[in-house]
This record gives sequence, structure tokens and C-alpha cells, in this order.
Amino acid sequence: MTEDAERPGANDRGLAPRTLAVQAMGSVDPITKAVVMPLHMATTYVRDPDNQYRSGYLYGRPDNATVREAEAVLATLEGAEAALLFGSGMAAISAVFQSLEAGDHVVAQEVMYTGSRNWLRDEAKRRGLTYARVDTSDLSVLQAAVKAGKTRLVWLETPGNPLWTITDIAAAARIAHSAGARLAVDSTVATPVLTNPLALGADIVMHSATKYLNGHSDVIAGALALAKRDALFERLCYIRSIYGGILGPFEAYLLIRGMRTLHVRVEAQCRTALFLAERLAAHASVARVLYPGLAAHPGHEVARRQMRGGFSGMLSIAVRGGEARAIETAARVRVWKRATSLGGVESLIEHRASVEGEGTPCPPDILRLSVGLEDPQDLYTDLDQALTGN
Ligand SMILES: Cc1ncc(COP(=O)(O)O)c(C=O)c1O
Repeated sequence: MTEDAERPGANDRGLAPRTLAVQAMGSVDPITKAVVMPLHMATTYVRDPDNQYRSGYLYGRPDNATVREAEAVLATLEGAEAALLFGSGMAAISAVFQSLEAGDHVVAQEVMYTGSRNWLRDEAKRRGLTYARVDTSDLSVLQAAVKAGKTRLVWLETPGNPLWTITDIAAAARIAHSAGARLAVDSTVATPVLTNPLALGADIVMHSATKYLNGHSDVIAGALALAKRDALFERLCYIRSIYGGILGPFEAYLLIRGMRTLHVRVEAQCRTALFLAERLAAHASVARVLYPGLAAHPGHEVARRQMRGGFSGMLSIAVRGGEARAIETAARVRVWKRATSLGGVESLIEHRASVEGEGTPCPPDILRLSVGLEDPQDLYTDLDQALTGN
């Protein structure tokens, strides 16, 4: 590993994060000069004869060079001082919640990823936390929900799964900070290609790296990127190590490979998603298209400001005729895959309310679409035949 690659967030060479991600920080194996760094599988490291560990590597749970290499790429992409990888997006989310103290108050989004919602529902009380879930896209609602000196964390997801609501990150950061709270943003859907929440004032960015960062539907991983390498970073390192929610080195290796092509994938997915959103908005069997790239979307103006050159590869459609018609439509696709998850190269369709289960804020007529890299016209033609039943 080069010296730069060892320093998460190093970007002092004046190169764009995209360049550094494509070259995985430009690292070259010092022994063979290979342009792809070796995969480090060792679980333990030799101690120096004088009883020191000068290598900085003691034991595989906290210390792994492949994991650190992936963290350096992510820190660069997010403009973060430090990044931490976890065994899943949920491990990263829970680590942030676990860093809170009993008595702390959390404000989170009303419509958000089911797992985060369920964590608050099932775990918060047990840990002495209180929380409010509100429509954070309305800043006056967010302002009213935050309790000065008591709210310690504001948790956003923008675009918010699965209705793609948009929250103004910079304004939310001001509201959170003025109450003495940190702002964390689940930026899984925006990816660092479209939004850098830390540059807008957030303290923590979270990713389900399972999705766009890896991009090939073959790794489960989670990530946190932090504005500061401070006491919170140390606490999160400790939580990851003591609860053991680490990422394995092979997954980190695949993740590095995925991040090399992140920009080209996301750019193409955004283009196809916009093409589909516009075509579907005019489709007789579609009641509504939810996509922040459409001018009619309530978050469009904010999205234009805080998302660079695209509105993500995720959209949802409300099917005319309700739940049964939506499920029938999903049953008829031939090119789209009927599966949960998002952000991979293959396009996925799912009846979201069925997956989220009881208490879901997702309306029953909604199909969620994760746009992949297939030919855009093939994707539209397949949806058209599924919607019309031919
Ligand atoms: C927006 C969002 N956040 C977090 C997660 C959780 O990530 P993981 O499945 O990697 O634990 C998901 C998973 O679907 C997600 O879509």
C-alpha cells in the first residue's frame, strides 16, 4: 500500500475523487508492481522483537490492509477525514445508533429504509433512546421535532426509500447543529457521485455499500464516512471492533473493484432512469411516477441543487388499478428481475409494500424500480408489455 493509500481521505494530489477511485488511490504493489493490490487474508500479524507493533496491524478484526484500502477510496469519494466499513449497511446504521447514550433523542425520517425504521421501533426503547419520525422534507416540521440540548442525532435519507422524498441537507445540518445534534445522512441512493453530504454540513454519511458502491449484487457491506477523525470516529471504531460487525477482506476487495467503475455506472443509471421516468409518466397504466428528476416531483428544486448531474437510478411507479395490478405487473416482466435490493448492474423491480410488511408507509400500488445498465429501450419495452398485459 502506498503512503497515500494508508491515509484515509488523502487527496492532496489535486486529483478528482473520480480519478483516485478509478485507480483505487493509485496504489501499486511495492513488491511486484502489480496495478491491483493483493488481497490480504491474514487474521494476525507478527509482533516486533522489542514487543511493539510498528506495522499498525495487530489482529485481523480491527486491522486489515484490504479493508483500509477500500476505506481510503470511500473517504476520498466522500471528502471525509475517515471512513469505516462494516459487515452490512445495517451494521453501520446500528453502530451510529449504538454510539448514542441512554436518554438521547433522535429525529429520523418518516419514510425511510425499513431496516432503519425497524431498528428504531424495536431497539431504541431497550437502549433508553427516544425518537420522532417526521417528514424531514418539510424543514418547519424538522425544526419543530428537534429538541435543543436533547436531540443528539438527526437521521436523514435523501432520496428517501422508496418514495424518493428529498430533504435539503444543508438546511437540515443548520437545524441539527443549532440544537446541538449531529446530522447523519443515509446517502446510499445518491452515492458520492451525485451528492457529498459532508460538504453540505453533515457529520456522518452512511452507505449500504451492498448497493451502488459495490454495484454488482455480490457483496453485503456497509460504510460510514465522517467529517472529522474525532472522538466519534474512535467510538465507532470501538463499537465495530467490540460488537464485531467487520467487513471481510474478500468483500472489501470486491468493493474496491466496484468503486473503480462507480461514476460510469451511476451516470448511465441516472440517464436511463430519467428516460424511463419521462416515458412512464405518459403511460396510460401508470397513475404516478415518483422520481426527483421530474419537474413535478416536490423535491425537484432541492434535488437540482444538491445532486450533481443526475437524480439517481431509483424510481417508483404507482400502477393504475391498485395493489393487485401492481403485483400482476411485476409478475409479467421478462427482462427486469423481480427481486429486492438496488444499485446493481441488473434492473430490479419489486412490490415494495409486500417487502416492508405491516406498518409500511409505502402505498400498496407502488412498484420500486432499480435501474441497471441494460439497453434503456429494452427496459421500457419490457415494462410497457408488463403494464399493458400483452
Ligand atoms: C437506503 C438503504 N439504507 C440501508 C440499507 C441496509 O443495507 P444492508 O442491506 O447492506 O444492510 C438498505 C438496504 O436495502 C437501503 O436500501
